[in-house]
Amino acid sequence: MSGRIPTAHRFMAAIDAIAQSLEQYRDIDAVIVTGDVAEDGDPASYAHFRAEIERLNLDYFVIPGNHDHRENMRRSFDDLGYMPKSGPLNWSREFADFHLVGLDTLIPGQGGGVLDTQSLAFLASTIADSNGKPVLVAMHHPPFQCGVHFMDRIGLKNTDALAEVLAGAQVEIRLICGHLHCMNVSMVGGSVAISAPSTANVFPVDYRADAPVGFMTQSGGYMLHDWDGGFKSTYVEIADGTGPHPF
Ligand SMILES: [Fe+2]
Repeated sequence: MSGRIPTAHRFMAAIDAIAQSLEQYRDIDAVIVTGDVAEDGDPASYAHFRAEIERLNLDYFVIPGNHDHRENMRRSFDDLGYMPKSGPLNWSREFADFHLVGLDTLIPGQGGGVLDTQSLAFLASTIADSNGKPVLVAMHHPPFQCGVHFMDRIGLKNTDALAEVLAGAQVEIRLICGHLHCMNVSMVGGSVAISAPSTANVFPVDYRADAPVGFMTQSGGYMLHDWDGGFKSTYVEIADGTGPHPF
């Protein structure tokens, strides 16, 4: 990113950090990467991503962000068996405790995103068929305004349509997303929505209308999402440090 951040190295370090913590996290069902897997949709970047994330030996799922290329992504991950053969990259998977849904918000050539009618219908039918199990919904663009103007200008264009689908749900739903390089918590359609930090860098929390557009050089972290009678989401920072030390 602008030549200032060793993003590939940071991603490798994030995989190392997760690998070292897996024993603490016990039973992990899957890793979810909420978009902008590549900077420019290059298949070589997807190949590099796969080589790194597959070191975890866990199932993993991807959805496109505004920096991704839909068809390159479809081809690059086709063998994993969950990508649709055509149309938006929406998919779902049932785990023991919950359903996981990935939604495609990519508009080629634009920073902002949208859920088209096909994607909204896919979400509605997955929720309707969930048989009382909770649903974790992953998408790249956050369905809320975060307050940072330069990001809100490239947000999700039709949050109201998503809220309408969610408002009728009879099961607990949690939405997770990316894009913001910052952990924000908000509500949409009666459900909690949380954006994940980035492993590459963080965006400044600056709510002024004339805030400078840019990024900070420090790395962020990742989120853990768990179902235990309710969704529980935990921010894990990737930072230097030692411990645990006795109190
Ligand atoms: Fe993004």
